[in-house]
Amino acid sequence: MTAKIKPPKGSPYARILGVGGYRPTRVVPNEEILKHIDSSDEWIRSRSGIATRHWAGPEETLAEMTLEAAGKAVADAGITADQVDAVIISTVSHFKQTPSIATEISDRMGAGKAAAFDINAGCAGFGYGLTQAKGLIAEGSATYVLVVGAERLSDLTDLTDRSTAFLFGDGAGAVVVGPSEEPAMGPSVWGSEGDKADVISQTVAWDEFRIGDVSQLPVDADGEVKFPAIRQEGQTVFRWAVFEMAKVAQEALDAAGVSPEDLDVFIPHQANMRIIDSMVKTLKLPEHVAVARDVETTGNTSAASIPLAMERMLATGEAKSGDTALVIGFGAGLVYAAMVVTLP
Ligand SMILES: CC(C)(COP(=O)(O)OP(=O)(O)OC[C@H]1O[C@@H](n2cnc3c(N)ncnc32)[C@H](O)[C@@H]1OP(=O)(O)O)[C@@H](O)C(=O)NCCC(=O)NCCS
Repeated sequence: MTAKIKPPKGSPYARILGVGGYRPTRVVPNEEILKHIDSSDEWIRSRSGIATRHWAGPEETLAEMTLEAAGKAVADAGITADQVDAVIISTVSHFKQTPSIATEISDRMGAGKAAAFDINAGCAGFGYGLTQAKGLIAEGSATYVLVVGAERLSDLTDLTDRSTAFLFGDGAGAVVVGPSEEPAMGPSVWGSEGDKADVISQTVAWDEFRIGDVSQLPVDADGEVKFPAIRQEGQTVFRWAVFEMAKVAQEALDAAGVSPEDLDVFIPHQANMRIIDSMVKTLKLPEHVAVARDVETTGNTSAASIPLAMERMLATGEAKSGDTALVIGFGAGLVYAAMVVTLP
């Protein structure tokens, strides 16, 4: 006879309880980028909206940045690290294939034997993490979940590639998700379009890099195979983001039953100011909606971009606790994830 399995005892509703961020101390202006590529400050600002970004120094490792952000999020949530039941770290710039960075973070932050794993969902990684956190809480596998987006994209940037050299930044953003008495996280509208996998990708796979065939692979000025970096077809990604992601954002609003008028805050992935402006226009967001424009001084920090922008908006008073926010991430895969959330 098939044994009866008890129904889940989790909390049907979840909310973001706290947020924390870490930005490296070194600010890199466009002038520094221009040492390596033929471009101009004016071009970079007008085409991307980026004026400065933060690049991590040797002490600001992925783990150190993650621990800083995680510690702040845990404190902001009003819990202690040992109450965290699951640690989810979204990153594409952890250089050890195994073990995950999440287990190291769980141990070092004092989360004890919390479940811990990394996810690789590019610039949608934060939304993928939120989606999982909510599910884990609903089915009772966790009460408190730490979700972090952390990147050292400067390690994966080809400074001589004029289509990407100015885009990327480093940093970590974290939230704690926990149970809620009322709905505070809408349904996730997430997905992937693997037929477009080639439009954002690593230049050279690790095994190809190890073989190092200089006749097949991109080489630097010394004739050595270039270290792998992120490359993209900028215009293709731009068009996809502008046309397709506004639809996904609208679906997330509809799924949550929230109209643009009801929205207080819009936090899209910080990739390009023109993409942000275009989405605001397509979604017909009213004037009162505060829009994250962190890309200007942070660049594109992939999975870290949404929680970093969220933390800054709350810190500066552009957004306040209890506000209703639409978040949407999109990027390499191609992948996307959008959700309406109540801000911590
Ligand atoms: C990268 C990006 C800013 C480039 O802007 P763009 O307007 O698409 O630029 P294009 O690639 O079409 O190039 C336009 C012109 O500028 C030139 N150009 C490209 N890079 C340049 C640079 N760094 N400086 C000056 N000129 C540059 C091109 O050669 C081209 O010249 P041409 O018209 O004479 O042929 C933009 O495509 C983008 O942001 N894409 C999406 C990025 C993104 O979201 N990525 C990650 C998702 S996670």
